[in-house]
Amino acid sequence: MRISVIGCGYLGAVHAACMADLGHEVVGIDVDPGKIEMLSSGHAPFFEPGLPEALRRALDSGRLRFSTDPADAAGSQVHFVAVGTPQTAGSDAADLTYVDAAVHGLLPHLADGDLVVGKSTVPVGTASRLADLVRASSGADLAWNPEFLREGFAVADTVAPDRFVYGVPSGDAGDRATAVLDEVYATALATGTPRLVTGYATAELVKVSANAFLATKISFINAMAEIAEATGADVTQLADAIGHDARIGRRFLNAGLGFGGGCLPKDIRAFRARSRELGLESLDFLADVDAVNLRRRDRVVDLAGELLGEVRGARVAVLGVAFKPDSDDVRDSPALDVARRLHAAGADVVVHDPEANETAARLAPDLSYVDDVPSALRGAELVLVLTEWKQFKALRPAEVAALVSGRRLVDARNVFEPAEWRDAGFEFRALGRP
Ligand code: UDX
Repeated sequence: MRISVIGCGYLGAVHAACMADLGHEVVGIDVDPGKIEMLSSGHAPFFEPGLPEALRRALDSGRLRFSTDPADAAGSQVHFVAVGTPQTAGSDAADLTYVDAAVHGLLPHLADGDLVVGKSTVPVGTASRLADLVRASSGADLAWNPEFLREGFAVADTVAPDRFVYGVPSGDAGDRATAVLDEVYATALATGTPRLVTGYATAELVKVSANAFLATKISFINAMAEIAEATGADVTQLADAIGHDARIGRRFLNAGLGFGGGCLPKDIRAFRARSRELGLESLDFLADVDAVNLRRRDRVVDLAGELLGEVRGARVAVLGVAFKPDSDDVRDSPALDVARRLHAAGADVVVHDPEANETAARLAPDLSYVDDVPSALRGAELVLVLTEWKQFKALRPAEVAALVSGRRLVDARNVFEPAEWRDAGFEFRALGRP
């Protein structure tokens, strides 16, 4: 298939590289010349395991190219729209500026019979509005095909997802769109990947409800962590115990500093805002999900104050600022938020993240960043483990004790065995654990 991918951010760059790697002819288009230059020379503009290799293979095959010119979309049969839908400044709603601009920019280059495929996460109702526009101006069809990719696993999630969802119009246009998408995803479909064909609204809702469910699951266990803190219970044992129930499941039940990133926080806010626009209070509970999540950050800042007595002037080692391990993404990162708040309170914050130092320094240039764990730990009066990178999980009390000036540690991701640290003389705090 000849494919264009509009938007070469996280989603689009991975999608373009993977589609070309699977054998399609792909052009990735983005307005940012810097990004296009990097991608064209085989460099991923962000850290994503497996992406540089996929990019290199696809570029070497001659099937992948990148461009800043929307006119290069002409001649493709399928046009994926993979631009961002950030939170609107001053409101919870999704900002559709980029999606609208991408579709309007495509219109002059579409041919009758082309298929525009939305992948961005959008408020329900968007696809049907855009389908009318696309149909009226070009005779092309539109489908909504949400992505579910997780950062750190984006390549695998693109090539071999859990499921495909095609939101298509009714009738012949829907059958045509389904046949085209089946051809695009033939490799994964041949291995039995489930594929659900729905209307537009369902496809749009599948994506946001999946994220809302995951966020709710995390906030549920973090609410249990608050109860555990008040009662002396251990939330990690609680999670193991309820997780054995197959109806509940253990995944996404890790209590800790909570969720962040470019999706979950803004998606639950936009989803609730959309339900309010529809005149419904059905999703008002997502405000509590958000609030529980944000309270975990307060808790860590409070624990730091409790352990240090005086935060001002104290040397604090922050291990991890990415919103999760195996990522250099610091968008809405709980870890970076805590680091900045302690810095604002006067602490001397020294940060080490295996991949996210640079991205964090762009947002928070006032913090000190160091390239290795010992440099962060040396002389620290308090150590905060805020992102569960495997190299942090591997730390043992003796090596930390040899470097720090005060044996105080907050394990904000519940990765350590408290007794091991306490036995080594640490004042040790975790979240939701005695
Ligand atoms: C998420 C969805 O998982 C993905 O399907 C969607 O397409 C995009 O949004 P991602 O943002 O990459 O993906 O991160 P995810 O792995 O879902 O983690 C989100 C956040 O939740 C991270 O900050 C993580 O640290 C936190 N988390 C996750 C927990 O606090 N506890 C858990 O048990 C799991």
